[in-house]
Amino acid sequence: MIPVADFWNSTVGKKTVVAVTGTILVGYLILHMVGNLNSLFGPGGAEPRVDWYSGWLREIAEPLFPYAGVLWLARVILLGSIVIHITGVLQLNSRNRAARPSRYPARRIGRSWESGTMLVSGLLVLAFIIFHILQFTTLSITVTPLEHGAVYFNLYNAFQEWYFVVIYLAALVLVGIHLRHGIWSLVQTLGLDSPARNRGIRYGATALTLVIVIGFALVPVLFWTGVLGAPETEAAIASLAGGTA
Ligand code: HEM
Repeated sequence: MIPVADFWNSTVGKKTVVAVTGTILVGYLILHMVGNLNSLFGPGGAEPRVDWYSGWLREIAEPLFPYAGVLWLARVILLGSIVIHITGVLQLNSRNRAARPSRYPARRIGRSWESGTMLVSGLLVLAFIIFHILQFTTLSITVTPLEHGAVYFNLYNAFQEWYFVVIYLAALVLVGIHLRHGIWSLVQTLGLDSPARNRGIRYGATALTLVIVIGFALVPVLFWTGVLGAPETEAAIASLAGGTA
């Protein structure tokens, strides 16, 4: 058997792959959160800063790469990481179940409630990601007005509705629960922990989680509370006045 397959088939190998793909996903979350903060610059006249940022994401490395080439590369890496991460977790889970004698209860001493809910929180976050892509990337959830390339307009309209604010804040709580334990676990799997450092690592995992969750949450909260005003582009004004997308 080739070494890559051997590595994947071993429990340590699978755990390492789950940790590495988890690290890629955390990295994506940090970049996405920072990118979203461009919304805080407001409607900004002719072109809101977050719209300019979204356009720039598609133009990276042009003309070396075609339009949106780097974005598609990132999407492929992201999707691959999600699929491999989930496959690894599900396989490790069924291995654990098979190895556990049935007369012992599933709950083990020393497990935090977060570690016990990783599978559930992970699957709920996955459901959120699917909903979220349908809403803001494919623009398929047309409950509120949406336009291609008009990120500020799309966010503004969605977060005027309390139920979208609630859905996003609830999803961020789940992301936070999953992240805090996930970051701690991946540090351990990658062998970066040590008794002297563990307290600091746990605090670090909590701090990073809080930064990510609060950074994301600012966007719906500031739109909902009216701190971030209505879009000012002509197309947006016409669309809002007509009540259509
Ligand atoms: C309040 C929180 C969030 C807001 C306001 C937000 C906003 C957005 C927007 C506007 C887009 C489309 C960007 C564009 O077309 O240029 C997007 C895409 C995306 N978001 Fe979020 N997001 C949030 C949280 C999250 C979270 C927590 C995750 C992951 C767990 C996530 C994962 C994604 C993914 C995978 C895409 C698709 C990227 C692509 O291929 O174009 N987002 N988000």
